[in-house]
Amino acid sequence: MRKWIVAGNWKMQNNIAESIALAKSIKEGITNLNNGEVVVAPPFTALYSVGEIIKGSPIVLAAQNMYYEDKGAFTGEIAPGMLKDTGCAYVIIGHSERRKYFHDSDEDVNLKVKKALAVGLKPIVCVGETDEERVKGVTQSVVGRQVRKALNDIDKIDNIVIAYEPVWAIGTGKVATSMQAQEVHKFIRDILKELYGAVAGDIRILYGGSVTGDNIGELIDMEDIDGALVGGASLKPDGFLSIIKTIDKKR
Ligand code: PGA
Repeated sequence: MRKWIVAGNWKMQNNIAESIALAKSIKEGITNLNNGEVVVAPPFTALYSVGEIIKGSPIVLAAQNMYYEDKGAFTGEIAPGMLKDTGCAYVIIGHSERRKYFHDSDEDVNLKVKKALAVGLKPIVCVGETDEERVKGVTQSVVGRQVRKALNDIDKIDNIVIAYEPVWAIGTGKVATSMQAQEVHKFIRDILKELYGAVAGDIRILYGGSVTGDNIGELIDMEDIDGALVGGASLKPDGFLSIIKTIDKKR
């Protein structure tokens, strides 16, 4: 049985004090998790402080992005080793907002995934089609390309998590139906099977895009949905905890 994940992507929100307060509330609200992992991804400036708060709890730390070089003259970038230094276990790579506003290409995503794996960070690789692409009927070719390119030249995927996040569902309140999501999740798993064989059955594929405590129950009942990457609803302890509790009860 795959271990489920609920990951909170705080994006460019919460200063240090707010991040600490949120992390504390989440920590207090979580008891024993049956077979799951809770991940929080605060902004860079709060990683260390949040890492200190969640030490010894079932919550693990993630960054929202990284650069693919170890060190050097790359003003404004953050190296993978620096993330490990703050206590990160995971790093989100290729989020659609990175792809859209900061022009992260499929090639950048691939370089970052390789680098993350090399230093022992687990990448959460985001893929997903835009509204226009879904309407045009090219969802599978877009998602297929993103998955294959992200994994180019990578032979071990045990430590990789994939997040399917339809761009039209992110921050819009327009969640994908469980059938729509399952269809793409299965499509992604089939690609992983083709590329890596049986291990594909162990890889976690998360759904992201307007997930709330109200809609997660239906999504998590789907065979190939192994958890959620949550934006808006991860910023309030109650909203985030209700997602965690619903999944924990069902799995
Ligand atoms: P949302 O964001 O839950 O606010 O739609 C999800 C994400 O961007 O990861």
